[in-house]
Amino acid sequence: MTNLFISKYIVLIIILFIGVGCFRTPEEPYSIAKSATTASAMVVTAHPLATEVGIQVLEAGGNAVDAAIAVQFALAVVYPIAGNIGGGGFMLVRQPDGEAMALDYRERAPLAASRDMYLDSTGQIVDGMSTLGHRAIGVPGTVDGMMTAHARYGTLELRDLLEPSIALARNGILLTAREAEELNLARAEIEQVNLSTAPFVQMDPWQTGDLLIQRDLAHTLERIAHAGRAGFYEGETARLILEDQRAGGGILTQQDLDEYQSVWRTPIRGWYRDLEILSMPPPSSGGVALLQLLEGMEDQQMTADDLLTVPSMHRMAETMRRVYADRAAYLGDPDHVTVPVDQLLDSLYIRARMADIRPDSVTPSTQVQEGDWDTTESEQTTHFSIIDKAGMAVSVTTTLNLEYGSKVIVQGAGFFMNNEMDDFSAKPGVPNAFGLIGSSANAIAPGKRMLSSMTPSMVVDQGQIRLIVGSPGGSKIITTVFQIILHTLGLEQPLPEVVALPRMHHQWKPDTLFVERDRFHPDTLSALRALGHQVIERSPIGRVDAIWIDANGRRTGAADPRGDDHAGGY
Ligand code: GLY
Repeated sequence: MTNLFISKYIVLIIILFIGVGCFRTPEEPYSIAKSATTASAMVVTAHPLATEVGIQVLEAGGNAVDAAIAVQFALAVVYPIAGNIGGGGFMLVRQPDGEAMALDYRERAPLAASRDMYLDSTGQIVDGMSTLGHRAIGVPGTVDGMMTAHARYGTLELRDLLEPSIALARNGILLTAREAEELNLARAEIEQVNLSTAPFVQMDPWQTGDLLIQRDLAHTLERIAHAGRAGFYEGETARLILEDQRAGGGILTQQDLDEYQSVWRTPIRGWYRDLEILSMPPPSSGGVALLQLLEGMEDQQMTADDLLTVPSMHRMAETMRRVYADRAAYLGDPDHVTVPVDQLLDSLYIRARMADIRPDSVTPSTQVQEGDWDTTESEQTTHFSIIDKAGMAVSVTTTLNLEYGSKVIVQGAGFFMNNEMDDFSAKPGVPNAFGLIGSSANAIAPGKRMLSSMTPSMVVDQGQIRLIVGSPGGSKIITTVFQIILHTLGLEQPLPEVVALPRMHHQWKPDTLFVERDRFHPDTLSALRALGHQVIERSPIGRVDAIWIDANGRRTGAADPRGDDHAGGY
């Protein structure tokens, strides 16, 4: 099996090098498929090599969770901007019989963390402290998460799931143009917080097609393959993490590593028309907000002709504004605060909440507060979707938070650590890196999980899995997934076309309607401004990797044209 993987890996490299000559544009090392339709299995990820690793695992007899574990480790090698072992994530699993579970391997605040740790003596936030360097790091959950998923669902040996990633790290990967540019952009910050910047900085700027070899990471992955959880949270890797923390002024301890545990949670379930939606519960805000958005649009009579017209964009923006006001007030780690999920998802509540939306004017965010009821009571992330031949479906969103996380490379271990602490509300009412406002529900506390927007989701139609979907994009993840579901299922547009459509986003505060730059007609933007929206054009929103399963069981993978994302299967 292991040898099979290595020989397949070599064959894959040869194919990709042949692809250099035959298919690719002169400067890109890989040929990339933005959509693919197959009969049995499908994998869609942010990188062609990670997609191929997932396919190899499925072809070797692994199930969708085996493939997801292998892809998670492969992304840590081939997509270090967001793929990770130093971060965390969420995995939604649905078995062919309908049983669904949500695995929370979100990072936690270190035990030495405190509510005001990012404030100076005058109570002001210290710029950059929660985003750059060792103090920004939460206790990583990814390796524990993968071991927990493997214990419950895995069928192949752990070593076989890690072997492709070890080979990729040891032998090197060719950088795409996008990856070379991203590493060059991050160079100054990587140099600022690391004694040694190897292997992510070289003398000259990175160029498309350069070889990135990650020997330290290969050794770290070897230790995980050999010892499982203990290969990361104990022994040599733990020693390197803690030594790096001491040298860089971090606060993680061995107790933090020992006590980290991922958690199986019950997925959020709801309905959009007659379709069942499965998504991630708190500490993600994603599932709750997604269902609020869909319910908030349910009574809208929309047709395919309405796609991204002024009235539908206005209605979506006004719905988003109200949902994000609730997110700021009520969402946090359910193991530390009471999150009123049932109230937030009550359809009477949501309809009442949307009742003051006017078709011809905006409600300024200053006039929108969180909703009330009678009883008292980051952009660089990556998503992948997988379905196997038996119909087991996996939807995973995983992150370091911002690009390359804290930019801290664990010296000698070869991987980036997250800066997930910025997803807490460092000070109520003050925005984080995504402009998100929070309340005490998301205040920092030792061992607490920071609120997330990651929204790995699925749609089920009369017991049959129909859609597997998710996206990176920090606060924009939720609205991205919402638009994909609305346009694919509400308006019955083909998934690959929907994934390529222009996207918009509103999050209550700032009171701004963000739209993708140069993707909307100037007349549309003028009409939205005339209604009162403060429209700002910006860089791409989200990067969706999704799978559509039709009534005959055929799988269509859709990889977002906004990145190097690749769909493949058999
Ligand atoms: N770090 C981005 C998120 O979890 O929402």
